[in-house]
Amino acid sequence: MGADGVSDGAFLVTNGPTSSEVLLLVGPPGAGKGTQAEKLARARRLQKLSTGDMLRDHVGRGTDLGVAAKATMDAGQLVSDELIVEMVRAELDNQPIRVLLDGFPRTVVQAEALDALLTELGTAITAAVLLEVDIDELVARLLKRAQEQGRADDNDATIRTRMQVYTDQTAPLVAYYEGRGKLRRVHGIGAVEEVFAGISEVLP
Ligand code: AP5
Repeated sequence: MGADGVSDGAFLVTNGPTSSEVLLLVGPPGAGKGTQAEKLARARRLQKLSTGDMLRDHVGRGTDLGVAAKATMDAGQLVSDELIVEMVRAELDNQPIRVLLDGFPRTVVQAEALDALLTELGTAITAAVLLEVDIDELVARLLKRAQEQGRADDNDATIRTRMQVYTDQTAPLVAYYEGRGKLRRVHGIGAVEEVFAGISEVLP
């Protein structure tokens, strides 16, 4: 059994994946996207793409992209759609595409670009999972992480900006995916395992 409670053996007895699957995790900062992405990717044998992790990796390595993105990220604003879409496009070169997207798309422009890219690649989104968590819990989680890990954007002022950016620029994705019959709502409060079970229940 792996540390996250997913059986290691499950991977050994199944055949290789043969069909495409594209899952998205949507939710405000602190909703648990990254936490659940790790578990879901492992359980469903998906490649995990976290645009936040990818950007932080660039910042850490001091690449041109990282240098360009750092101030924007530290301020809690979104990095440009063009840059993000190109970064994701460069990763989607496996066939069949089996991917879990964490933190992307984050704007309707990104969602439309993703739909176009997937159509180009002969596939489509399987489901968009919305993790629903109230604001008090979100802030408490991020302030706790600030004490534990010191992430540059986990401070009081930047958390407030990130929440506002979510409301203004990312929350419209809920209607976008609902209108396309792709949205799956999951209660995101409770033990990590309970939330994971809730996600698993709503997925095909
Ligand atoms: P990103 O890294 O995506 O950050 P975020 O959306 O703010 O998300 P977080 O990582 O804070 O939260 P999460 O929902 O992943 O929750 P987590 O599992 O970590 O983006 C950072 C920045 O990069 C953006 O502001 C932007 O500048 C840029 N960026 C990224 N993608 C972009 C894009 N597509 N376009 C433009 N710019 C982009 O959990 C949070 C905490 O809660 C953890 O400490 C965790 O242990 C804890 N926790 C998790 N689940 C539970 C639970 N069930 N109960 C209690 N605690 C829990």
